Amino acid sequence: METPVRSRAALVTGCSSGIGRATALQLAAQGLVVYATARRPETLVGLEERGCRTLRLDVCDESSMCAAVERVTADQGAVGMLVNNAGYGLQGALEELPLEELRRQFETNLFGALRLAQLVLPGMRRQGWGRIVNVSSVGGRITTPGNGAYHASKHALEALSDVLRFEVRGFGVDVVLVEPAAIATRWVETALGGLAAREDPGSPYAALHADVAARMRGAHEGWLGLAAGHPEAVARTVARAVAVHRPRTRYVVPGVARLFVAAGRLLPARTWDALMRRMYRPPGARS
Ligand SMILES: NC(=O)c1ccc[n+]([C@@H]2O[C@H](COP(=O)([O-])OP(=O)(O)OC[C@H]3O[C@@H](n4cnc5c(N)ncnc54)[C@H](OP(=O)(O)O)[C@@H]3O)[C@@H](O)[C@H]2O)c1
Repeated sequence: METPVRSRAALVTGCSSGIGRATALQLAAQGLVVYATARRPETLVGLEERGCRTLRLDVCDESSMCAAVERVTADQGAVGMLVNNAGYGLQGALEELPLEELRRQFETNLFGALRLAQLVLPGMRRQGWGRIVNVSSVGGRITTPGNGAYHASKHALEALSDVLRFEVRGFGVDVVLVEPAAIATRWVETALGGLAAREDPGSPYAALHADVAARMRGAHEGWLGLAAGHPEAVARTVARAVAVHRPRTRYVVPGVARLFVAAGRLLPARTWDALMRRMYRPPGARS
């Protein structure tokens, strides 16, 4: 009996810059059929010349997600690999975060990823093979002050991925988490821009916000920034995760960041809090 041809076409979200763009290029360079997507198609310029097909896809827009998956399915039979990469970081003390912004954070980082998985799974099940790579973060395993919205969205993405992995394995579909630490992309600029836009010197959390901004800058710029990873390193990890026969459930990039994850898991919560108090000025604390 003839083995049905399996689509190994990859659909990658958030390819306007950073990790998504590097991943699309890496997968295309390895000879895969790659659909590089972004909510603003003009930001995909240059990718077609380098072997990618391009599509508009906004992970907060149901019709654009459906249209993109339908297009790949019509061309290739199925989406063989889905890389849920689109995302951003919403910072700010939880008391002050408008719920509307928190909802948008979840819409982008979590619901968009799950919805796309729902849309591609029928095709993957039909062909008995598929791979879903969810770009989470080490921030999906640990928490730091002032980053609650982002952590909550990425922790939720980790939980969904763990459950989905079990539910779809029998259909030949693997679900993999890629967990970057500090990576030199536009991510920090976007996060700092959001924080600055809500800046209020009279806020009881103003000092915390200043520390959050300084820590983020520190991790990505200056001498500490030298340790920041490159989007290409994450792209190579995604490429490995889709290529190997039996991928790991989680890949931390750069590998050294596994130390943070281990510390977050092993230290008692009160000890972690004490560590955070050394790094961030606790709001409301009397001196
Ligand atoms: N850089 C880091 O230090 C780091 C660390 C851990 C995890 N991550 C995760 O890695 C992923 C990629 O981030 P990056 O570092 O490459 O940052 P980036 O350069 O800012 O890229 C983020 C991408 O997500 C896209 N995006 C945002 N909202 C979208 C939407 N509604 N629909 C479609 N695309 C949308 C952006 O598109 P626009 O150009 O249209 O905004 C952009 O293409 C994110 O999930 C991020 O949370 C990054």
